[in-house]
Amino acid sequence: MKSLKHCIAAALLAGTSSMAQAADLEVTHWWTSGGEAAAVKVLADNFNKTGHNWKDSAIAGGGNARPVIISRISGGDPMGATQLNSGRDAEELVQAGFMTDLTELAEKEGWKDIVRPSKLLDSCTYEGKIFCVPVNIHSFQWMWLNRSVFTDNGMEVPKSWDEMTAMQDKLKEKNIIPLALGGEPWQISGLAGVLTVALGGVELHTKINVEKSVEAAESEIMTRVFEALGNARSMVDPGNVGRAWNTATNMVITGKAASQIMGDWAQGEFAVAGQVAGKDYDCLPGLGINPVLDTGGDSFFFPKPKGDNAEEIVKAQLAMASMLMSKQVQVDFNLKKGSLPIRGDIDMSAANDCMQKGIKILEKPENILPSSEQVWSPDTQGQFEDLWVEFFSSPEMKVADAQARFVNIIKTAD
Ligand code: GAL
Repeated sequence: MKSLKHCIAAALLAGTSSMAQAADLEVTHWWTSGGEAAAVKVLADNFNKTGHNWKDSAIAGGGNARPVIISRISGGDPMGATQLNSGRDAEELVQAGFMTDLTELAEKEGWKDIVRPSKLLDSCTYEGKIFCVPVNIHSFQWMWLNRSVFTDNGMEVPKSWDEMTAMQDKLKEKNIIPLALGGEPWQISGLAGVLTVALGGVELHTKINVEKSVEAAESEIMTRVFEALGNARSMVDPGNVGRAWNTATNMVITGKAASQIMGDWAQGEFAVAGQVAGKDYDCLPGLGINPVLDTGGDSFFFPKPKGDNAEEIVKAQLAMASMLMSKQVQVDFNLKKGSLPIRGDIDMSAANDCMQKGIKILEKPENILPSSEQVWSPDTQGQFEDLWVEFFSSPEMKVADAQARFVNIIKTAD
């Protein structure tokens, strides 16, 4: 079998010729909600226009999909391409050499000059080579509010988390759930992270997530974050356990619930439901307290192919990588996904009010935080998730005890 370098070189040369053989690429991802599926369709349709075939292989739920994807690649059963979170999800696979090197294509297309913020490519770079394509910027730091739930009941639409929490009793009197929640570990952990930024600002987030400061982890302000998460228990309904995030979003869309703290992928659900930002729903970046965003989001990786048609598969992988980075796909895909584009040189005037708020925030580097997937190893993330889930689901658990465990995780976090 020819060396993979030879395959990539041949692929780059042949990629421009009309002689390129059509290849089927199995694509794994966890985008199964209404909004996510609409976004996937944009990618599939655009990939099929290259002459290759997108073979969809969706696995619902990031928590289910991630381990399946990683074990398939490390176990010698690679898919053609896969979505994963931008960050350290695939770190060990990249370092072990399981992924197709995209460096030549990236240099040919000038990705380093195109991608903004440029650190999005850092998560794809190992030993100076590029092994993934960032496709969007998603941030967890958003709160979504159904406007008519408030206006129909003589209430002002809250402009901040504090105003929202002050209205919870009045909402309950109207049989409206103040805060819709999916009680999955990543959702509760995400809620805790958003409260950390909202209450402690960029400073607390940075001290904990970048400097791994024990002093910050045991600080009084972090105590307030634990207390706020504890207080949020009274804002959610008992049926939240195990609920999917998009089911919770639908509770806000239908007015069963007043609000949800969730990443901006929730926008795809409002869009599919025909709801308009600023008219049917409002959005509060940073919970209306600290309007900053994290550069979470998604990247596509291309596991090295096995078998006789490796050369065709690599050509198709490079064609997909180029498609994902292209201007029109970046616009069309992100408008459906509710995420922000990874390019700063495209026309996003079609973006709705909420996306425009996000784009404005992204213009200032000081407003941009690394996401938990970019900072923590999957193992450390799992430890945080376990702690937040146990604390949130155990009203009898003392804040001091939970915070002490948090400090211990920080001490050994990687
Ligand atoms: C995130 C992913 C988003 C969205 C969300 C809910 O990890 O980055 O694209 O799909 O999961 O499924």
